[in-house]
Amino acid sequence: MAINYSEKSKKFHIFNDKISYIIQILDDNCLGNLYFGKHIHDKEDFSHLLQGGLRSLAVFHKENYYFMSPQYTKMEYPTYGTGDYRHPAVEIKQENGSRVVFFEYESYKIFKGKKKLMGLPATYVESEQEAETLEITLIDKLLEVHCILSYTIYKEYPVITRNARFINNGSENVILERALSASVDLPDADFELLTLSGAWSRERHIKTSKLQQGIQGVYSKCGASSAEHNPCVILKRPNTDESIGEAYGFSLVYSGNHMEQIEVDTNDLTRVLIGINPDTFEWPLNNGEEFQTPEAVMVYSDEGLNKMSQTFHKLYRTRLVRGIWRDKARPILINNWEATETNFTEEQILEIARTGKALGMELFVLDDGWFGKREDDKTSLGDWYVTNFKKLPDGINGLSQKIEALGMKFGLWFEPEMVNKDSDLYRAHPDWVLQAPGRSLSLSRNQYVLDFSRPEVVDHIYNMMERILDTAHISYVKWDMNRYISECYSNHKPASRQGMVFHEYILGVYSLYERLIEKFPDILFESCSSGGARFDPGMLYYAPQAWTSDDTDAVERLKIQYGTSYVYPLSSMGAHVSKVPNLQVGRTTPIETRGNVAQFGVFGYELNLNLLSEEEKTIVGKQVAFAKEHRELIHQGLFYRINSPFEEVGSWMVVSEDREKAIAAYYKLLSIPNEPWRRLYLKGLDKDKKYVINNDKSRVYYGDELMNAGMVIHKEDLCAGGGDFTSAVYFIKAVEKSFC
Ligand code: GLA
Repeated sequence: MAINYSEKSKKFHIFNDKISYIIQILDDNCLGNLYFGKHIHDKEDFSHLLQGGLRSLAVFHKENYYFMSPQYTKMEYPTYGTGDYRHPAVEIKQENGSRVVFFEYESYKIFKGKKKLMGLPATYVESEQEAETLEITLIDKLLEVHCILSYTIYKEYPVITRNARFINNGSENVILERALSASVDLPDADFELLTLSGAWSRERHIKTSKLQQGIQGVYSKCGASSAEHNPCVILKRPNTDESIGEAYGFSLVYSGNHMEQIEVDTNDLTRVLIGINPDTFEWPLNNGEEFQTPEAVMVYSDEGLNKMSQTFHKLYRTRLVRGIWRDKARPILINNWEATETNFTEEQILEIARTGKALGMELFVLDDGWFGKREDDKTSLGDWYVTNFKKLPDGINGLSQKIEALGMKFGLWFEPEMVNKDSDLYRAHPDWVLQAPGRSLSLSRNQYVLDFSRPEVVDHIYNMMERILDTAHISYVKWDMNRYISECYSNHKPASRQGMVFHEYILGVYSLYERLIEKFPDILFESCSSGGARFDPGMLYYAPQAWTSDDTDAVERLKIQYGTSYVYPLSSMGAHVSKVPNLQVGRTTPIETRGNVAQFGVFGYELNLNLLSEEEKTIVGKQVAFAKEHRELIHQGLFYRINSPFEEVGSWMVVSEDREKAIAAYYKLLSIPNEPWRRLYLKGLDKDKKYVINNDKSRVYYGDELMNAGMVIHKEDLCAGGGDFTSAVYFIKAVEKSFC
């Protein structure tokens, strides 16, 4: 790993043994991009990679400098107004109304390690030897606004992380109208664009399209990263599949309004822009003030999409997730939501917990309905204390002690950012909600959004949460966010600062998380937003796991978890077995298959265990034991996608890093008559090792056979008789060569 600067050719080469990223200071003193991709040898001069030249209509920055027009150049951090007509990375509105900006190179700094981003989530290093950082300072000389572009390369990963910081050292007050985290210009457009897009209950489905000239991409404007579009885009070559070919992944470590835009210009240059969505952003930058963008993470793979995902998984699992839960086995939980919703008694809760304990579960999570007068979703959000002692005679403290006395840990649901009109909080502070003056307030699920851009609001919620977390025995918090933001306007802020509210809101959310984590480092946080509407890298910095989707149907979950795995590790995906017929889709799937899907995530249950038959309870007991035995392998192993559940059958597997153990799963979707014989072509095993399947001495094979000839699926392997929605899980273990 190194970052080299050549004074002679004015180029920066950021590289490790896997990737290279090359920037050049151009003759007009702007930054150009020369290359991003597989590692290439370092040398003095790469300026021939610039290309470009004299073309009609193009404008040039210097007299007699007809070589490079910004319109035809691969720019590093493009601006608008001086001849690059593509979409820019930054826009600054000035006091005289001008938006023309010209950022020139000023200086650079290279240092070991990686700095923290103030107030924002970001990947980190544990030792300075893990990464190296380049900071390039640009200046707009007229405005005296500085822009510091930061690039970190990790030694071990084909990853570059980026961010930009703006400092106004001039006397003029300017407005940042766009301040993106990264821009990358690639030299051709022979790519397909993959996005993780969907909706509530079908989050992160994989959408693929061929790049076209013009604009394409994804975004969010709803105040959360959203169920509709995850903050990432993937560009892959047309021939790239899971295991071969080039893929570039761009992921934003941010939980608010985002934009990932691809522009293909008429010369087939591809520009990738990623950052805070400029449509809902306007940030006054007065003299002496700074603005920090979120972090963008860029991954390159020349071994297909699966390798790109494995890079994201390991980076996010080990260098984005923090705290004791990063490396600790995650408890197998039972959550009461789908069993009782808000209508429960303490005795019912204890009944479920007792059965959960008997079946081996480790954590009981009390979901919505414990606070204030909450009997339905019309009331009490914002009142984070117990007032209904008929429901919970000894409060949360008493219940938590009773659960702990059973030998289980206790977890609790909150929705800190929301308020119902019928609540003590709203009655006391009706002006604390986001609301546009003179306009009526839109409702969603009978609730309003608190103005988290105001520190006093965040403080108040912190105090309530702190009190309960301090007094009761709470090991886990599920932090929900069940509506999008509308009428985004903050009372007590002048007109000139309203464009800051969306971003300040999410900074308020981050600050509340940070304070709670600091005060309660042992608590495991799980983020949630009506399922997976805020499943993003920003959240993972605070909450190591997230509720993947409200859709717990095994077949739908296969697709959701498969799509989610393009960027996010299995250790981040909350996955529960729930009741049938499924609440979202009405489908009935065997309990074994529900378990076999949920095992490939952070495993748990979400149903009334007391309504299960004895036979089902036996199966559940075995599932829990399996999860306990293998969760380390599942969460920390290398994940391979094999067959896409968007097609006929689904399958995937995890392999331990030493290739001694693996777990593969095969999911039959619909039965078809006169069914073809199936094989599972395993991946990632050691070709020279011998493996035994499910401890069955009659099923011993070399790794190369399992990967190349495949593992034959026997009908008897499938659960519940092998009909629709059945599945099989295989535990694969290396054995001595002499074995059998
Ligand atoms: C959201 C969550 C659910 C549950 C309910 C409670 O929908 O996704 O898991 O917590 O809220 O109201």
